[in-house]
Amino acid sequence: MIAIRSQIFHFLSRDQYEFFKDGLLVLEDGLIKKLGNYNDIIPKLPKEVEIIDERDKFLMPGFIDGHVHAVQTQVMASYGADLLEWLEHYTFPYESQFSDAEFAQKSSKTFFHQLLKNGTTTAAIYSSVHEISLESIADEAIRLNIRVLAGKTHMDRNAPEALCERTEDTFSSSESMIKKYNGQARFNYVLTPRFAITSSPEQLEQLQKLKEKYPQIAVQTHISENFEEIESTQKLFPDRKDYLDVYEHYGLVGKNTVLGHAIHFSDEEWNRVKENGASLVHCPTSNLFLGSGLFNFKRAWENEIPFALGSDVGGGYSFSMLKTAAATYQVAALRGYKPTALQLFYLLTLGGAKAIGLDDKIGNFELGKEADFILINPTKLEILSERLKASRTIEEILFAMLFLGDDRIIDSVYLMGRKIV
Ligand code: GUN
Ligand code: ZN
Repeated sequence: MIAIRSQIFHFLSRDQYEFFKDGLLVLEDGLIKKLGNYNDIIPKLPKEVEIIDERDKFLMPGFIDGHVHAVQTQVMASYGADLLEWLEHYTFPYESQFSDAEFAQKSSKTFFHQLLKNGTTTAAIYSSVHEISLESIADEAIRLNIRVLAGKTHMDRNAPEALCERTEDTFSSSESMIKKYNGQARFNYVLTPRFAITSSPEQLEQLQKLKEKYPQIAVQTHISENFEEIESTQKLFPDRKDYLDVYEHYGLVGKNTVLGHAIHFSDEEWNRVKENGASLVHCPTSNLFLGSGLFNFKRAWENEIPFALGSDVGGGYSFSMLKTAAATYQVAALRGYKPTALQLFYLLTLGGAKAIGLDDKIGNFELGKEADFILINPTKLEILSERLKASRTIEEILFAMLFLGDDRIIDSVYLMGRKIV
């Protein structure tokens, strides 16, 4: 058993949080054992429990990145293209290199290092089309004992030959990855068709069969990110009434479906997503960088559609979920809505966990949950330190952290109660 004394913040629900100015978080076997005011808990703790003093820091659940490509770290910040051009000129050629095991393994190490140093303790991850790419991600995630969702990306058309798998291998390749990895340590497999343009109807049928055989396995994909993408999808699937209907038709939209972007949804698509119970992921740095459009934060929030925030590296330009949340605020503001620091931190933690179906395990400090958390030290940055002298409430403090903070204020990261950064 260990205990950490700190300024502790977490959410109980969408509109309820707890903040302990002098709090104590008690852990046992990697799980949350107790949380409360230091003075209330300390008399009841066995004398021999080690207490780590972090009173000058803020302790909160680790961040959740709801959409990130482990195979795009060298694609970040590539100049001047819209989505489809960017995929063709930068992303596809780069992802082609992931057929090489050594390259893939090195890249996965860098990728997880970047997540963790930014305070991200859970992510929903895309690999390349190559099995070895997913294996390198899964092996590293299992070694670190980090909780992730990750899937082998499926594509069989409209991409370079090196990235097109044989359609008849679709079912068996994902099934073998499910059997090999799903449920090992804290690894969860997720069916991952890249997007409608790069999957033939036959490939989507294969994925439908997998989904029927393994209904507990989640699905993630991209949707409605860019106008040319939407137009091209409509041409490739002329019998489907809209983009969402492509995935619905193949049985891929339900409670454990996670749809990236959803910027240009029609009213009908918004209504059906709500009925289906699917989740969205908003990726503001990517949407700004690629010029894709402005997600309707207000509509998603007010309709209580579960959504997470995603870095979408390499369309996104930062692994930092603080920067991602700051961009979320700015994108929403351009549409006349200003999310509060509480809404944004909810999405980075408990809300994100709900959206990717892991809120029974992570996202807050409910007793028995996995002890994945971070300590933030705002004094690491002079400007943030200075700004916080004028902050009174926890909301003001959090808001300033979003805009002025980055990986430099992430002091330490714990996975299952073990300090790893
Ligand atoms: N749509 C299909 N593939 C991708 C990708 O790699 N990144 C983004 N942002 N959108 C996509
Ligand atoms: Zn993406």
